[in-house]
Amino acid sequence: MTTTSNDRQLHRDTLAVRGGMRRSQFEETAEAMYLTSGYVYASAEEAEATFKEEIERFSYSRYGNPTVAMFEDRLALLEGAEAAYATGTGMAAVFAALGGLCGAGDRIVASKALFGTCYTICAQVLPRWGVEAVFVDGSDLNAWREALSVPTTAVFFETPSNPTMQLVDIAAVSEIAHAAGAQVVVDNVFGTPVFSAPLAHGADALVYSATKHIDGQGRTMGGAVLGSAQFVTEIAQPMIRNLGLAMSPFTAWVLVKSLETLDLRMAKQADNSLQVAQWLEADERVAQVCYPWLASHPQADLARRQMTGGGSVVTFTLNADKAATFRAMNALQIVDISNNLGDSKSLITHPATTTHFRIPEEERLSLGITEGTMRLSIGLEDPRDLIADLDRAFAQLA
Ligand SMILES: Cc1ncc(COP(=O)(O)O)c(C=O)c1O
Repeated sequence: MTTTSNDRQLHRDTLAVRGGMRRSQFEETAEAMYLTSGYVYASAEEAEATFKEEIERFSYSRYGNPTVAMFEDRLALLEGAEAAYATGTGMAAVFAALGGLCGAGDRIVASKALFGTCYTICAQVLPRWGVEAVFVDGSDLNAWREALSVPTTAVFFETPSNPTMQLVDIAAVSEIAHAAGAQVVVDNVFGTPVFSAPLAHGADALVYSATKHIDGQGRTMGGAVLGSAQFVTEIAQPMIRNLGLAMSPFTAWVLVKSLETLDLRMAKQADNSLQVAQWLEADERVAQVCYPWLASHPQADLARRQMTGGGSVVTFTLNADKAATFRAMNALQIVDISNNLGDSKSLITHPATTTHFRIPEEERLSLGITEGTMRLSIGLEDPRDLIADLDRAFAQLA
């Protein structure tokens, strides 16, 4: 018997372990990994009917796969989205959504505060195909109003942004965008499926790098586009299928199991993050700390309105130049230097010389990314050990 658990009435914790489950005739307990590229038809007629879309079944794993479908259904259920389509990486999801929406002559308005490669897609890749890209200060509603005073196809932003932790008011910007005819795509990597629900605040679609918190254990690359069934099947699906952006069944198997513990991991990581952020804020060697759950965050009210927790990334700026900042990073004994984030192991990166080094210096400085800025992704360790590690490393600043 093959069963699928797609009951939207079930509570979140139940959906996290059972949502989207498709059992095979062997009635396995855990989700099965279907490592197959193709599928066999009982007859030539069945193959023909499949291609004519007269029957719905798996035909080729670039189009769909049972393990991938379990991940997609479970994530969509947790997100409260009508549909999800998985991709091989987060960037594939970003491009499937934005490239699916925009063609020559179209216009995209995006927040300036973006992860480096997301910025490249908007500032370089889409314009090569005749899309006009306009960037605004994402925290300034007047800037959004001005940029969206002419017809626009797509609006794109991260909230909180990587690494500056700047928030965008999802409901207000969605309203302005819709009046301009635009569809709103939110990169919810930093918000996570646990603490931020952009679709409930008016966004049309959201994208994830599942490489981050969804895997959460630093093992695999992945991504997803979520939204209405119309957005997913008409905008994202043709891009993913035709460009070959699909997720592999092995990745989907890792990720569908990761969703089972996502809420538990995120609760602990957010709790750890707040403790570390508070310690950093009280340390005189630190010039600035950006974490949405601190009262000192310039958009703390908005954070409490549209998020249910601050997430797992704390960005801070030391009173130090590049050499001293590197000395402190190199002295860390527990926190690893890595440009990944959302892992169960705490990771630190220096955005100005890594993730954001391609962004012109003037632009970077205007975002607040200086030589002393560090992005700290907090893991599942005991926060006392993390604080002791940072304290020891900061001793190198003198
Ligand atoms: C906010 C954000 N969006 C998208 C991506 C891209 O994800 P991936 O590396 O899985 O392609 C990243 C990766 O760091 C990210 O931080």
